[in-house]
Amino acid sequence: MKIIKMDNQGRGITYFNDKIVFVNNALPGEDVDIEIIIDKKKYSIANVKKFNIKSNNRIKSKCRYCDTCGGCQLQHITYDNQIKYKEMYLSELFKSLNIKIDAIELSNQFNYRNKIKFQVNNEIGLYKMNSNEIVKIEKCEIANENINKKINYINKLNIDGIDNIIIKSFDEKVMLVINGDENKINIDDIYNSFDSIYINNNLAKGKRIIAQINNIKYLISPNSFFQVNIEVASKMFNYIKEICNYLKSKNVIDLYCGCGSISIYISSIVNYVYGIEINQDSIKDANKNKVLNNINNADFECNTSDNINIKDKYDTLIVDPPRSGLSKKITNKVLSSSIQNIIYVSCDPITLKRDLELLSEKYKIKSIKPFDMFPNTYHIECVCVLKLK
Ligand SMILES: C[S@@+](CC[C@H](N)C(=O)[O-])C[C@H]1O[C@@H](n2cnc3c(N)ncnc32)[C@H](O)[C@@H]1O
Repeated sequence: MKIIKMDNQGRGITYFNDKIVFVNNALPGEDVDIEIIIDKKKYSIANVKKFNIKSNNRIKSKCRYCDTCGGCQLQHITYDNQIKYKEMYLSELFKSLNIKIDAIELSNQFNYRNKIKFQVNNEIGLYKMNSNEIVKIEKCEIANENINKKINYINKLNIDGIDNIIIKSFDEKVMLVINGDENKINIDDIYNSFDSIYINNNLAKGKRIIAQINNIKYLISPNSFFQVNIEVASKMFNYIKEICNYLKSKNVIDLYCGCGSISIYISSIVNYVYGIEINQDSIKDANKNKVLNNINNADFECNTSDNINIKDKYDTLIVDPPRSGLSKKITNKVLSSSIQNIIYVSCDPITLKRDLELLSEKYKIKSIKPFDMFPNTYHIECVCVLKLK
């Protein structure tokens, strides 16, 4: 089968009996024999069984689990080509909105992740591609060194009662989070190997760990969101701060604010910022982060963004939703408000495009700046600036 092009998830595209087939780990120009692993009415997903012709763009992946693990999709091309692929994809996707995409902000290609999640299904490891079977690992090339040093402890664990395990690491400190049946979990053998340990959200050992982005400190919680790539998050937060400065933002509302990361980061250059977040633990952290950083012009509310009315006093709205993007309800609320500026932080270009199409009824899209927050994967973060027409 001849691979014609790459899809938005870094898979090769070919056709078999007039049906589209997405081929994991195949590059445009390659000729491959395939094995269908998922067969749906409108499409199939396949793995490569044999390469007949390989692309000149193919390189040997650094990761030894690359052919089976579902974590990375682009390790078989150089970082330069990953960036070209992401640039091409974004410019094609946003073509109809008639907006030039800014240059992608780059990252270290490896060892950037401060978090890894291990799944349990008869054994412990990461999920295989398109499957909930496990691939056991000793090293993850995109996780930071401190996480990698601890993987052998995870592999030694008795998995009885464990649903999943998360390791997070910031500034040399390593935190272990074990979710599952407390009565069965036994971690005696590895207890001394982590700075802090949580069992089902409860601190069982050590102290809270703290992440730092430039001069701002953030408390890290076991099961709530924090940016996974500090180097790129720092570039992105600086960019958002510059944008607020440029827009002369004074009163800011920050929807989907997590632990107050962006609110607190920009607080020094605005009069007031109000953050809303659905996760109670994140809001507790946001309030503690305020104190930790000596901030007194920010407030936080635990609520769903859908319930929020965008009052006239705000001039700038920041939104940083999950991949699903903005709900219809919040989009309509934005459209019926008269807020001047929107800074939309997105981790899914497809839902971003959908939402921009709706918002552009009343807002002019000024810029879209991509950040390579997740190298070696097809994921990409974008910050889009809109102004009331
Ligand atoms: C991509 S994270 C962004 C967090 C934060 N801006 C940051 O940079 O750390 C999205 C956040 O939205 C929250 N969230 C999800 N659905 C929500 C909703 N309906 N209303 C408010 N927050 C929500 C999640 O809990 C998560 O913390």
